[in-house]
Amino acid sequence: MKIFIPKEINDKRVAASPDTVKKLIDMGHEVFIESDAGKNSNFNNDHYINSGGKISNESGAAEIILKVGKPTSVEISTYKEGSILVAMLDPYNNRDLVDEIRNKNITAFAMELMPRITRAQSMDVLSSQSNLAGYKAVIEAANSFNKAMPMMMTAAGTIAPAKVMVFGAGVAGLQAIATAKRLGAVVSATDVRLAAKEQVQSLGGKFVIIDSDELKDAETAGGYAKEMSEDFKKQQAELIASTLANQDIAICTALIPGKKAPVLITEENVKSMKPGSVIIDLAAQSGGNCTLSKPGETVEAHGVTIIGATDFASEIPQDASALYAKNLLNFMAILFDKETKELNIDWEDEIIVNTALTKKGAFIHKEFI
Ligand code: NAI
Repeated sequence: MKIFIPKEINDKRVAASPDTVKKLIDMGHEVFIESDAGKNSNFNNDHYINSGGKISNESGAAEIILKVGKPTSVEISTYKEGSILVAMLDPYNNRDLVDEIRNKNITAFAMELMPRITRAQSMDVLSSQSNLAGYKAVIEAANSFNKAMPMMMTAAGTIAPAKVMVFGAGVAGLQAIATAKRLGAVVSATDVRLAAKEQVQSLGGKFVIIDSDELKDAETAGGYAKEMSEDFKKQQAELIASTLANQDIAICTALIPGKKAPVLITEENVKSMKPGSVIIDLAAQSGGNCTLSKPGETVEAHGVTIIGATDFASEIPQDASALYAKNLLNFMAILFDKETKELNIDWEDEIIVNTALTKKGAFIHKEFI
């Protein structure tokens, strides 16, 4: 089939790498890449051409569009009726857009709805991108911090190691812990999923948590966190108040799927931090773990720098694109029959059931019907 890879408008990433273009062609497809689509990822037009791709700015003939972020209305208007769209569509926050996609008879797959099952791990865009975001959060924090991260013993005196606290020890949080440890920081972390304790400790972090029976039931069958009770939140707030004042850097990654991010750092907590401290809020787009963070902005408050990160993975475009492209390639492989190379979507497959939003003019996802 004819596949189109557009140049993203508000994102440095691209949905195909020269490597995945070659593999898509081996699967029997023709791949058209918009000129300079991979420029920010150091994938030049020539690299794609050498992989067998064609440079074209026309999406209209494509039967499949592979994208990173959600398309604009203008982009949707250029897509062929009945085509297939695969991207991170952020459907819960963009109902109008999903309507536009359905009205165009497009079959759309939202990659961020990939189920957390073993078979889908190689297609899990949230994991591949969150991992890089967690790494970048610590690099950005170190950059904004006016002191050194590791302990340094010099003839002129000893520099104490930075104290880093990570909120939420999922994919992004664990990478943040590992990165901060590699930079020599003293790291602690908190999470409501007890399974995270061992993972934090295995990376050399200290796990900080309140003692509550509610923790036994804090994890969903899918491995995500649940929203906690008001009583739990109150106790957790007391724990944070007593620990955050001693920290130099807070990396916030706590999320609850489909809900606003939990509020973990209040203005009072920010006030208690030392001047020059840094908060990186990776949850800013979902409401923020810190009440003062603003998505896409850096705020200075009470001597603390608060960075409301929206898409840190996009700030490491080459690696983020390469991994995302691989996720999409693995997803494409399940849409086609390996022998005949024909489109053969199993609409009963758990992966399809969870990711498919629309099918030729109709909603098919349980949340949208
Ligand atoms: P996420 O991005 O939804 O949340 C990030 C972290 O925030 C989670 O660890 C969550 O427990 C934590 N959190 C939520 N509310 C909190 C609160 N009030 N206080 C402190 N922490 C809070 O989750 P993510 O990182 O995408 O994945 C979570 C887990 O899912 C992973 O650690 C892993 O166990 C599992 N997973 C499984 C996969 C698979 O089997 N294919 C793939 C990726 C993750």
